Amino acid sequence: MTMAAWLRSIPSLTGTAPGPDADPLPTEPEELFARWIRQAVDAGVPEAHGATLATVDADGIPDARTLILKDLTPDGWAFAGPRTSAKAAQLGAQAAAALNFWWPAVLRAVRVRGRVVEAPAEESAADLAARSPAARDGIAPGEWVLWRLVADRVEFWQGSPDRKHLRTIYRREGPHWRRSGAQDDERTGERAITRSPRSAGWTIGAATSAGSPPPVHETGAASSTRSSRCSTSA
Ligand SMILES: Cc1cc2nc3c(=O)[nH]c(=O)nc-3n(C[C@H](O)[C@H](O)[C@H](O)COP(=O)(O)O)c2cc1C
Repeated sequence: MTMAAWLRSIPSLTGTAPGPDADPLPTEPEELFARWIRQAVDAGVPEAHGATLATVDADGIPDARTLILKDLTPDGWAFAGPRTSAKAAQLGAQAAAALNFWWPAVLRAVRVRGRVVEAPAEESAADLAARSPAARDGIAPGEWVLWRLVADRVEFWQGSPDRKHLRTIYRREGPHWRRSGAQDDERTGERAITRSPRSAGWTIGAATSAGSPPPVHETGAASSTRSSRCSTSA
């Protein structure tokens, strides 16, 4: 069997999407993330706080590694590591990152991107102190850094076995979040997007309810009159 055939034989999207959420989508992505990671843990996802952090170096070359989410507050998604690490050097050169979570049992993934700020020294020291003795062995407080990813875009992806995946996207607009929804049809490449009316519920595709705004492209103008079903190569 070729490597390609063997890889294709590995099942994917084998989890089960949770049923419809009784609660409306929150206005803040942090709240939806908190809801989703708890549901992932409840569904048996191991180490649901593990994520892939992507950064770029001074030459613009990307890098990525696995790490642990340390905290989530209105100040951002917190992660930590040694000041001597590659990510520390890369964040020093370009203070921006992306953080990806994938929770197979619930067919959910979350993508977070934005700028990165270093937490105050006492918070880095507190994070180091909270590690196990083995994990902090040999690390002086000044050598350990807690960073916060201040998101400007957060995407919540709900996979579906029929390949009609749903995305909820939060984009920061000044002090507020704008939320949009999209349904991707992986089989046809079709993608339908609607923009939510401020903080109210959201709808998908052509089936917008009365009072909803016309569908728009994720990056398009609100005045777009194009069909809600638009082919993309995404
Ligand atoms: C499950 C798991 C959790 C990890 N957690 C962290 C972490 O919280 N912080 C960290 O610096 N490295 C963590 N690592 C190690 C990193 O993936 C990586 O090997 C190390 O940080 C070096 O990355 P860098 O040189 O690009 O900074 C973890 C690795 C795994 C597999």
